[in-house]
Amino acid sequence: MDKAKVIDKLNQAVTLELTGLLQYNQYAQVLVGQDRKVWEGFFKDNSDEALAHARKFASRVVSLGGVPSTETHPIKPATMLHEMLEHSLEHERHAITVYEEALTLCQDNTAYRNLLEDQIQTETDDAEELEKFLGQVIRLAGHHHRRMSKTA
Ligand SMILES: [Fe+2]
Repeated sequence: MDKAKVIDKLNQAVTLELTGLLQYNQYAQVLVGQDRKVWEGFFKDNSDEALAHARKFASRVVSLGGVPSTETHPIKPATMLHEMLEHSLEHERHAITVYEEALTLCQDNTAYRNLLEDQIQTETDDAEELEKFLGQVIRLAGHHHRRMSKTA
């Protein structure tokens, strides 16, 4: 395994997780009304999980002799719940891609391979959960919209 390449790739993951932390936290903060009651905890939990992932891989970067990234990408602003879920899904899919790229760099190291396979499983579960929620939110919005236009 090429340590320099792995450090670089894991730092891309750290940057993404730190961005996720900020983005999920922002969504938890700006939610209003009924959506806030239902979804605030979900976005906060996801923010906490992103921090845990950032720490996990920052510590691997240090173990490999690198310096962990403290950079973040700009977060995608959103005010509507469905936008938040769309951006979140996009974010998780991006994370899966980066962890998969890291996995291909670690094929000759059993421990790192296992670590990354577990991580890909976790992120895939998160993405599938978001897909389900997004589908539900869009269906509910559709019903609401049809009801509104019938009475109009
Ligand atoms: Fe993550």
